[in-house]
Amino acid sequence: MDLSIKIKNKTLPNPVGVASGTFGYGEEYAPLTDLSKLGAIYTKAVTVEPRPGNPLPRLVETPAGMINSIGLANVGTKGFLEEKIPFLKTLSCPVILNVAGSLEEDYAEVIRRVDFQDAIWGYEVNISCPNVKHGGLAFGTDPVQVERLTSTLRKLTDKPLIMKLTPNVTDITAIARAAEAGGADAVACINTVMGMVVDIHKRKPAIPAGTGGLSGPAIKPVGIAAVYRVSKAVNIPVIGLGGIMNADDAVEYLLAGASALQIGTANFIDPDTSGKVLAGIKKYMREAGFTKISDFHGYF
Ligand SMILES: Cc1cc2nc3c(=O)[nH]c(=O)nc-3n(C[C@H](O)[C@H](O)[C@H](O)COP(=O)(O)O)c2cc1C
Repeated sequence: MDLSIKIKNKTLPNPVGVASGTFGYGEEYAPLTDLSKLGAIYTKAVTVEPRPGNPLPRLVETPAGMINSIGLANVGTKGFLEEKIPFLKTLSCPVILNVAGSLEEDYAEVIRRVDFQDAIWGYEVNISCPNVKHGGLAFGTDPVQVERLTSTLRKLTDKPLIMKLTPNVTDITAIARAAEAGGADAVACINTVMGMVVDIHKRKPAIPAGTGGLSGPAIKPVGIAAVYRVSKAVNIPVIGLGGIMNADDAVEYLLAGASALQIGTANFIDPDTSGKVLAGIKKYMREAGFTKISDFHGYF
C-alpha cells in the first residue's frame, strides 16, 4: 500500500500531518505520540520577530469545537533557529514551517533567514489568520495579493511552498487559483472560521479580542466543501483540514479531493489522533481495495 504524497520534488511519507498551532514545535508531544509516524509536523507560525500574542484568555470552548485568538504568539526566527531546530532536527518526519507576517516583506524575511536550514522540509504560508490586526488576512482575501506574495516567496526558496487559505472569503477557488498562478506547490484548506462567543453574565465577549477563529467538528463541512471546490479548480495537491477527529472524517476529506490531511483541534483531546487516523485510513483502503491515496481522487 503506497501512502506517500508528492509535493513539488519531495515526498511526504503518509498523508496525515499535525496542524499548525495545535502541536507547537513537536517537543511537548514526543512523550504522548510516536512522532516518527507523522506524515508531517506543520509548526506553530513563525514571524520575523518574537510576538507575545493577544491578552488572555485566548481560548474558549463552543458546543462543537473551540474559538482561539492566540495572536500568533511565537519565538521569532532567531528563537526558532536556536531553540526549536535542534529538537526538530532529530525527527525522521518532515517538518513544515508555518510562516506568518503582516507585510509581504515580513513573510519574505522569515524565509530568507531560515531557508539554509536542512531540517525544514518546506513552508506553509499562513495568509489566513483572523486573529491579528493586519495578520495576513488582507492577503488571504485578495487574489491579486495572494498571487504576488506567492511569486515573491517562490523566488526565495526551492523548497515546497504551501499556501494556507482562509474560508472567510466569498470564493475560495479564486484565491486557490491565484496561489497556483504565483507558483505554489500545494494549498491547504482551511484555516479557522471567524466566530464569537458572548459571556452573558459578564455581558461581553468571552475572549478579550472579541472574535476569534472557530475550529473543531463544527467546521468540518466547511472544510470539506472548500477542499471539494478547490481540488476541482487547481492542478496542485490540496491538503485538507478542519474538524478531522477520526479516520472517517479523514476519509471524507480524501474522497472530496484532499491529497493529504492535517489534524488540529483533535490533538487537544487525544494527542495520538494522527496515529489512529492513519491506521483507520489504511483499514478503509484495504476494505475498499484502494492501493494508493490517489485512488481517492476524482471519486465524485
Ligand atoms: C490554538 C490554535 C492555534 C493555531 N495557530 C495557527 C497558526 O499559528 N498558523 C496557522 O496557519 N494556523 C493556526 N491554527 C489553525 C489550525 O492550524 C487549523 O487550520 C484549524 O484549527 C482548523 O483545523 P481543526 O479544526 O482540525 O483544528 C491554529 C488553531 C488553533 C486551534
